[in-house]
Amino acid sequence: GSTLQEAAAISGRYFGTAIAAGRLNDSTYSSIANREFNMITAENEMKMDATEPNQNQFNFSQGDRIYNWAVQNGKRVRGHALAWHSQQPGWMQNMGGTQLRNAMLNHVTKVAEYYKGKIYAWDVVNEAFADGNGGGRRNSNLEQTGSDWIEAAFRAARSADPSAKLCYNDYNIDNWNWDKTQAVYRMVRDFKSRGVPIDCVGLQSHFNSGSAYNSNYRTTISSFAALGVEVQITELDIEGSGSQQAQTYANVVNDCLAVPRCTGITVWGVRDTDSWRASGTPLLFDGSGNKKQAYTSTLNAL
Ligand code: XIL
Repeated sequence: GSTLQEAAAISGRYFGTAIAAGRLNDSTYSSIANREFNMITAENEMKMDATEPNQNQFNFSQGDRIYNWAVQNGKRVRGHALAWHSQQPGWMQNMGGTQLRNAMLNHVTKVAEYYKGKIYAWDVVNEAFADGNGGGRRNSNLEQTGSDWIEAAFRAARSADPSAKLCYNDYNIDNWNWDKTQAVYRMVRDFKSRGVPIDCVGLQSHFNSGSAYNSNYRTTISSFAALGVEVQITELDIEGSGSQQAQTYANVVNDCLAVPRCTGITVWGVRDTDSWRASGTPLLFDGSGNKKQAYTSTLNAL
């Protein structure tokens, strides 16, 4: 294949990017995105604060801009994200107890129902585990409603949109030796054993000096896959430049391709200048839209 999406399709996989609605009028940006990628994630526009700015008053205008652009260009959409401690609307941030639990479940239900039948996979719960040692849950207002909030969110999402794959998505779960990875692994194993609906694990894969790519990444992917879930690389970006960065991108692709249930890769933005990382050059295109070494190594590895 001569583009990322064509090359990924040879093995039946997708290659995606995060899209920001506010950049779609930039023709360099949108033409690269249209040419190279066939799975689209809204970078911010389907999050809780964007879709429910006031309680039980939903606003899908920005999410729909991205959804419509994707579908009009023949692409599929990953939904991101239904329940998360971050980017909550103000009204939710100080809620607790039963009120918050019900508000969260209502949000999951209403957003998943609105997009019913249209989303390839939803990140149902994002970043619920704590960093560091111990493998504990993140202390958030959602966790304080009871540690079963995650499975409650997954059950609500399944009821609202039975055809979407339901994913748990997180960062720092790519290194197999980390406690956080093992804790998420145990949760997914538990969900599968008890019939809690879960179809996929999203490895965000924001690689930088503090959490670098590790050669055990393939073990992480294959271990989750062996639980009977798909693995999707959902927010890939790799700090660095030149041949070292290019090699790491190739390693990530090779690790995914080695595991049949690793079904697709999404990078978190188009050009370096579109990245959420304030400084650095973590993506596949430079600020002018030129293909980087990392692009070529990724394409060749697919
Ligand atoms: C980031 C966006 O890229 C930024 O524009 C926003 O300001 C903050 O969120 N993990 C996630 C993503 O799941 O939603 C985050 O996206 C990056 C980290």
